Amino acid sequence: MGLMADLKQLGIYTHIHAELQALETELLEFVATDFSVLHEPSIHLLKAGGKRLRPAMAFLSAKFYKPDPEKLMFAAMALELLHMASLVHDDVVDESVTRRGCPTVKAQWGNIVAIQTGDYLFAKVLELLAKIGDPAISKILAQATVEMCKGEIKQIKTVHDTQLSFQQYYYRIKQKTAILLKASCYLGGIAGGAPKKETWALGAYGHALGIAFQISDDILDITGEASELGKQTGGDIRQGVMTLPMILALKLSPRSQELYQILNKQAKSEWDVDLARSLIRESGAIQASGRWVNLFVDKAMKYLEYLSIIKTKQALGELAGFIRIRKW
Ligand code: IPE
Ligand code: IPE
Ligand code: MG
Ligand code: MG
Repeated sequence: MGLMADLKQLGIYTHIHAELQALETELLEFVATDFSVLHEPSIHLLKAGGKRLRPAMAFLSAKFYKPDPEKLMFAAMALELLHMASLVHDDVVDESVTRRGCPTVKAQWGNIVAIQTGDYLFAKVLELLAKIGDPAISKILAQATVEMCKGEIKQIKTVHDTQLSFQQYYYRIKQKTAILLKASCYLGGIAGGAPKKETWALGAYGHALGIAFQISDDILDITGEASELGKQTGGDIRQGVMTLPMILALKLSPRSQELYQILNKQAKSEWDVDLARSLIRESGAIQASGRWVNLFVDKAMKYLEYLSIIKTKQALGELAGFIRIRKW
């Protein structure tokens, strides 16, 4: 499925159809290089699709104020490229073979090209920041990148740690995911010329939605369809990455000892992965995790009350609604 066909599933994106289309053209042109080893994997990932959620958050946040179009477009491009750089590296760490319905860069070109491609995409982010020339924006994206690195390292360090607490999980997903979604809305506010208080509220909305988004990603890793998600499921169980459904299932399942044993295993068979998946599903942990998604979406919606423009509230409210029910 092409990107625009994917995005049409999200009625919400109709408000920003023109911006998203322009973003595609700009990104393809900006990422292109005559050095094929970097060009091919970068374009492959770009053309594979994805939700363009971070640029969409920036566009929707800015749209109904008085945006500086160039600043907004460069910021939206920087957000997507930073996200893509993190995905290319994440797929090396997680040994993932499918992304956006296509082979990962790691699977198609190997780890060395994947590391260089991630660095290349990140360097292109720096180039955009130089074009924007606003130290406040550079600082936000630099801080977000540092937090994402910390989040990914924490994840690696706590693999197979069945004692992981909800609090540790929360801080990890805040760093690896929520901070970039927060930055997306915040930068939208800045490029849109929103009043200070509203820019703050946009950031707080993005943060709460980011937590909900990662919890739903962790649920979908257990309950989702690989064909809809565009990536393999069960990866967190296989890799030993402790997520909220696992933390809750260890508390709720009458067969928690069995679940402990599987999750603790360094090398799991596909039979182990399937059994862990059923134990988690049967324990009620999926519904309990879903309640956390709703709680954080509700929290995000509350921040929208600080916004003065009805259209922005409505558009971001619809986007939050998508996170509650998303299947991809
Ligand atoms: C995947 O992000 C990584 C997470 C933070 C869960 P997305 O689900 O936004 O990935 P794409 O951009 O649509 O491929
Ligand atoms: C999100 O974590 C990755 C980043 C924020 C870089 P995951 O490892 O859960 O993301 P997926 O499932 O591979 O998309
Ligand atoms: Mg991953
Ligand atoms: Mg995941």
